[in-house]
Amino acid sequence: MALRCSWFSLTLFCGCLVVGFCDQAGFLSISCGGTGSFVDSYNIQWVSDDEYISSGNTTRFEYPDGTSSSSVPLRFFPESQGRNCFRLPVKNLSALVLVRAQFVYKNYDGLEKPPAFTVSLATAVTAMVNLSIKDPWTEEFIWPVSKDTLPFCLLAIPHAGSPVISSLEVRPLPQGAYQTGLEDLPNKSLRKSYRINSGYTNGSLQYPVDPFDRIWDPDQGYIPFRVSSQFDILLSFNLSSLWEIPPVAVLQTARVVARKDVLTYNLPLDTLGDYYIILYFAGILPVSPSFDVLINGDVKESEYTITTSEASALYLAEKGITNLNITIKSTKFYPQINALEVYKIVDIPPEASSTTVSALQVIEQFTGLDLRWQDDPCSPIPWDHIKCEGNQVASLDLSDFNLRLISPTFGDLLDLKILDLHNTSLSGEIQNLGSLQHLEKLNLSFNQLSSFGSDLEELVSLQVLDLQNNKLQGIVPDSLGELENLHLLNLENNKLQGTLPQSLNRESLDVRTSGNLCLSFSTMSCNNVSSYPSIEAPQVTILTNRKHSRHRLAVILGAAGGALVAVFVASLVVFLYVRKRRSEVTYTMRAAIDMRNWNTARVFSYKEIKAATNSFKEVIGRGSFGSVYLGKLSDGKLVAVKVRFDKSQLGADSFINEVYLLSQIRHQNLVCLEGFCHESKQHILVYEYLPGGSLSDHLYGPNSQKFSLSWGRRLKIAVDAAKGLDYLHNGSQPRIIHRDVKCSNILLDGQMNAKVCDFGLSKQVPQADATHITTVVKGTAGYLDPEYYSTQQLTEKSDIYSFGVVLLELICGREPLSHSGTPDSFNLVLWAKPYLQAGAFEIVDDSLKGTFEVESMRKAAQIAIRSVERDASRRPNIAEVLAELKEAYGIQLSYLASLGHSG
Ligand SMILES: *[C@@H]1O[C@H](CO)[C@@H](O)[C@H](O)[C@H]1NC(C)=O
Ligand SMILES: *[C@@H]1O[C@H](CO)[C@@H](O)[C@H](O)[C@H]1NC(C)=O
Ligand SMILES: *[C@@H]1O[C@H](CO)[C@@H](O)[C@H](O)[C@H]1NC(C)=O
Ligand SMILES: *[C@@H]1O[C@H](CO)[C@@H](O)[C@H](O)[C@H]1NC(C)=O
Ligand SMILES: *[C@@H]1O[C@H](CO)[C@@H](O)[C@H](O)[C@H]1NC(C)=O
Ligand SMILES: *[C@@H]1O[C@H](CO)[C@@H](O)[C@H](O)[C@H]1NC(C)=O
Ligand SMILES: *[C@@H]1O[C@H](CO)[C@@H](O)[C@H](O)[C@H]1NC(C)=O
Ligand SMILES: *[C@@H]1O[C@H](CO)[C@@H](O)[C@H](O)[C@H]1NC(C)=O
Repeated sequence: MALRCSWFSLTLFCGCLVVGFCDQAGFLSISCGGTGSFVDSYNIQWVSDDEYISSGNTTRFEYPDGTSSSSVPLRFFPESQGRNCFRLPVKNLSALVLVRAQFVYKNYDGLEKPPAFTVSLATAVTAMVNLSIKDPWTEEFIWPVSKDTLPFCLLAIPHAGSPVISSLEVRPLPQGAYQTGLEDLPNKSLRKSYRINSGYTNGSLQYPVDPFDRIWDPDQGYIPFRVSSQFDILLSFNLSSLWEIPPVAVLQTARVVARKDVLTYNLPLDTLGDYYIILYFAGILPVSPSFDVLINGDVKESEYTITTSEASALYLAEKGITNLNITIKSTKFYPQINALEVYKIVDIPPEASSTTVSALQVIEQFTGLDLRWQDDPCSPIPWDHIKCEGNQVASLDLSDFNLRLISPTFGDLLDLKILDLHNTSLSGEIQNLGSLQHLEKLNLSFNQLSSFGSDLEELVSLQVLDLQNNKLQGIVPDSLGELENLHLLNLENNKLQGTLPQSLNRESLDVRTSGNLCLSFSTMSCNNVSSYPSIEAPQVTILTNRKHSRHRLAVILGAAGGALVAVFVASLVVFLYVRKRRSEVTYTMRAAIDMRNWNTARVFSYKEIKAATNSFKEVIGRGSFGSVYLGKLSDGKLVAVKVRFDKSQLGADSFINEVYLLSQIRHQNLVCLEGFCHESKQHILVYEYLPGGSLSDHLYGPNSQKFSLSWGRRLKIAVDAAKGLDYLHNGSQPRIIHRDVKCSNILLDGQMNAKVCDFGLSKQVPQADATHITTVVKGTAGYLDPEYYSTQQLTEKSDIYSFGVVLLELICGREPLSHSGTPDSFNLVLWAKPYLQAGAFEIVDDSLKGTFEVESMRKAAQIAIRSVERDASRRPNIAEVLAELKEAYGIQLSYLASLGHSG
C-alpha cells in the first residue's frame, strides 16, 4: 500500500523529472559484462553482473546507434549446455516484481550468426529469444516473488548459437497489481507482449514518469493505424481502484474516435497461448463516453461507460489465441482508450520437494565433484544425471562416479523409479534403499558388493535388479522371491553358491546365474558345496582384565566352520585392539568357560526360545536387524525376542557388539538385555518387555487415536530418553554412540517411563580423547545428521541431531519425512525450523494447543532447534539438552499445578 500514490505524489514524481531525484528503492539494474557501476541519464544506478553469475565470457563492442555509436558490454555463453543462471536477490522486494532483460547480438563476434535460445525464471520457461528476428530484443516479465533469490537463466538450444545478454533490471511493482481477473489461475507469471500509451506518438515513457519503471510504448505502428486525437488536459484522477497505478501522464492521452466509428487494435501474438489484457480508461473529456468492447469479435463488455475525471480498467483473460483484435465500437459519444497492456500467461511449474533437493545436494557432495546441481532439479530443464516426471525426480544415474557406499540420503529420494549405480566402487552390504517403494529398476552391477542386506525385499515395485559382476557371496536370500513384479534378476559373475530359492523359480522371472561358484534351482547339482556353512555350538573365550573390575569380562564368541570364523576373528582382533588401547591393560589369563556364567545375561537354547515365543507367533515390532516377537519365559516373565533374519550370516560383529554392550549396561532409561541365544543359524537377543509400546506408536500408531500424549508426558519422555543417552555418551565405559536414535527406539513401560533401545548399531568410542570414528554411514532416513553423512565422521553430536528430530516430532506431532502436504513441509527439520525460531507455535501438534505453558514450549523448541543445527559444533551436548528439557518440564508442571491439575 505504501507504493500507492495519490495524484499529488504523482505530480511530485513529474516534478522529480526536472530535479533528477526520485525513490528507486528496490531497483536493481545489472549491466551484463560491465566492469564498474555508473549512473545513466535517468539517474538510475547500474552495476556489473560479476556478483550475480559466475559462468560465461564477457566482451564489449561498438555499434552505431542512430547518430552516435554506443559501446555495449555483454555476456555470452560459448558452447554452453544446461543452465546459465543469474541469481537475482529479491529478498526485500514487494511480492511482485518486473524483470526486464535486454539481449543484443549486433554481430559482436563477426560471425553474422544471431543466436536463438530460451529464457527461464525459477522453474518456468518464460520465453524464446531469436535474435535473427529482432536485435536488440527486450523481454519483460511480471513475477510473483516467493523466495529470496530468483534464478534467471539462459538455456542454449543445440546448434543455435551462444546465448547472449546485455542487461537485466528488477523493479518492484505495486502490491495486488496484475491479479484482477486471474484469481482462478494461480502460480502464473506474465510475459509482456504489448504496453501501449494510446494516443501518444512522441517516444516511449518510463522512469521517472512511471515510478515503477514500466516502459509505455508510443501508439504507432499498430494496425490499423488511425489518426487519434491527443489531449493534454491535466485532470486529477482517483486511481484508488487501479492496483496497477498507471502513470497519470499515460492516462492523459487517448485514442478517441468519432461517434458511430470503430476503433481496432490488431495485435499479432508470437505464440498460441493464454493472454491477459488490461484496458485503461480515464475520463479526460467533459463527456461520459459509452461503448462496446470486443475481443476477437466477441463482445466482452457492452455499453462500457467512462465517467469524467475517473480512471477505470477492464481486465480480460483470453484462452488459446494467436492473434488479438481489440475493438471499440461506438454507441454513445466518443469511444476512447487511454492505455493497454497485453501479457502472455506463463505457467510456473511446482518445485521438487525440499527433501529431494537437500538429499541430492548431499549426494553431490558425496561424489566430490561440482555437478552444477543448483536451484530446482526438474525445472526449467532437469539437472545432469537426473530425469523427472513433473516435479518428481524419477531417475538418477550416477554410474562411474566413485561413491564407495550407498549413503542413507538415497533413501530420501522417495519418487525414484530408476537408480543406476553401476561401476561406482560400492562395497559391503546393499543398504539404505528400503524406503524406495516406487523403484522399478536398480542397477548395482560392476561394484564390489558382498552382501544382499535386507533392504531389497522392501522394494515392492522392483522389476529389474542388476547385481552382476559384484562380490556377492553365500546364498541367494529367499526374500527376493517376495518381489512380485521382478522380471529380471541378474546375478552373473558373483561368488554365490547353493540352491536358488524356489520362490524365484517362476516363468515371469528371468534369473541369470552364470559365473558363480555353483548356483541353480536343483538341490542335486550343488551337492558338494554346502549351502549353509555349518556352525557348531559356540565356544566362548573370556579374557580377564585384572585392573578394572568393571570391565572384568570381554567375550569372544568363537564358532567353528565357514566364513563366520573369519568374521569373528576379525571382529575379535579389532575388538581386543580397541580395548587394549583404551585401558592399556594386558590380558594374561585366557580360559574357555561355559557361556552360561557370563555376566548378568542369560544364555538361552533355541528350544527354550521357541517355547517362550510359542514358535514365534506374535510379532511386536521390527528392529534394525530383524523381527521382534513377544515371549514368555518359564518363570512367567514377558520378554521381547529379537531374531536376526539375515541368512547370509554376516554382521556377526554387530551381534557380538550388541550382546557385549548390552550385557554391561544397566540404566533405568535403557532397555535391559535379559539374555541371548547363539545356536547354529540363529542370532537371538532377549530383552525385557515394555508393555507400553514405542513412542512412535503413541504419536502415530493406533494408540494415538485413543488418547494423545499431553505436553507434560511428552517432556517427561524426552527427559527420560535424554537421561538414557546421557548415560551412553558420558556414563558408560566405553562411551557409546547410539547411531539410530528415533521414536520407534524409545519404548515405554507400564508407567509411561521411557527407555532407549536397539543398540544394534551402536559404536563405542575407542579412546577417551578420540573425537570421532570414521564409519560406514548407518541410521534411519529423516533422523540422520547431515554432517555425518557428508563427512562419515561419527560423533555424539550425530545422536544429538537425531534426538533433536525426536523433540521436533514431540512438538509438532508429525513424522520426520512425509510425502503428503506441500513440498516445503516434506522434511520436518526444514519445515519446522523457521517457525520455531520465530516463536510461531502454530505448527505445534493440534492436540497440544491451549494446554502448554508458552515458556516451557519455547525452551523445548529452542533446544530442539539447536540440536538440529547443520553445523555439528553448534549443537549442544546431551547434558545441556537434558538440563533444558528438565527445566521445560518443571515449568510445565508448575503451570499445571497453578491450574489445579495434578500433573
Ligand atoms: C571464454 O573464456 C574462457 C576462459 O576464460 C576461454 O578459455 C575461452 O576461450 C573463451 N571463449 C571465447 C569464445 O572467448
Ligand atoms: C533487507 O532488509 C533487512 C532488514 O529488514 C536489512 O537488514 C537489509 O540490509 C536489507 N537488504 C537490502 C539489500 O536492502
Ligand atoms: C530464428 O529465426 C530465424 C529467422 O526467422 C529462423 O530461420 C530460425 O530457424 C529461428 N531459430 C530457431 C531456433 O527457431
Ligand atoms: C502454487 O504454488 C504454491 C507454492 O508456491 C503451492 O502451495 C500451491 O499448491 C500451488 N498451486 C497450484 C494450483 O499449483
Ligand atoms: C517530442 O519529444 C521531444 C523530446 O523528447 C520534444 O523535444 C518535442 O517537442 C516533442 N514533440 C511533441 C510534438 O510533443
Ligand atoms: C476514490 O474512489 C474510492 C472508491 O473507488 C473512494 O472510496 C475514495 O473515497 C475516492 N477518493 C477520492 C479522493 O475521491
Ligand atoms: C482481426 O482483424 C483482422 C482485420 O481487421 C482480421 O483479418 C482477422 O481475422 C481478425 N482476427 C481475429 C482473430 O478476429
Ligand atoms: C568405471 O568408472 C571409471 C571412472 O570412475 C572409468 O574409468 C572406468 O572406465 C569405468 N569402467 C567401466 C567398465 O565402465
